Amino acid sequence: MKYIFGNWKENKNLAEASKFLSDLKNNFALGYPAERRLVILPPNLFLIPLFQQIESLRLPVELGVQDVSAFEQGAYTGEVSARMVAGLANYALLGHSERRRFFGETPGTINEKIKICQKYKVTPLVCLRGLEDLKLLELNLGELPVMIVYEDPQEIGGEKLSDPKKILEFCRQVRLRFSKAVRFIYGGSIGPENALGLWQLEALDGLLVGHHSLEAESLAKITLA
Ligand code: PGA
Repeated sequence: MKYIFGNWKENKNLAEASKFLSDLKNNFALGYPAERRLVILPPNLFLIPLFQQIESLRLPVELGVQDVSAFEQGAYTGEVSARMVAGLANYALLGHSERRRFFGETPGTINEKIKICQKYKVTPLVCLRGLEDLKLLELNLGELPVMIVYEDPQEIGGEKLSDPKKILEFCRQVRLRFSKAVRFIYGGSIGPENALGLWQLEALDGLLVGHHSLEAESLAKITLA
């Protein structure tokens, strides 16, 4: 089984999000590959309506969130916890480089988030920016399942992938450092034109797609590549 995550970031309103799912249904009219699991990470606000729409369209799609609170519950204005999204979202992206850059996310908060996600059975997708993060982050990955996402911030938002050799070396280092059973995801500048080569890399368990996940047609092309 290989995974494909669509990280919408701060994009779309409700009408656009809903149209995306109808378009996705049309793009999979000829069938959906059984060996691929597609997960959309929308803004939290849209989780409930999208969850209901996925059910009514019978789409083989799951939902995840782009972040969760480092606190389980309580007086933390503006925060949304894994406890709240559990049942709607099966995955949570943690420590994305944009969260670190713009919102001061630290290894300490990422560790807290991992623990809370595991408590509520939301699979953590822990983002690492490069080999230096392996040393910096004294990550306590806790129980499986955990997914490690490798994204070099220099390679986000473009059209050119990281060198596959670099991806595979990072994957090797992750597997040496953490359990072999940790799933390994690559993200950064993935699009319909370059996805095939990545699907062929056996060491990869999945792909995280940003800007090319905003159009149903391009996300479907990547999924079917
Ligand atoms: P990108 O973003 O596909 O637009 O490079 C990936 C990500 O940051 O999750």
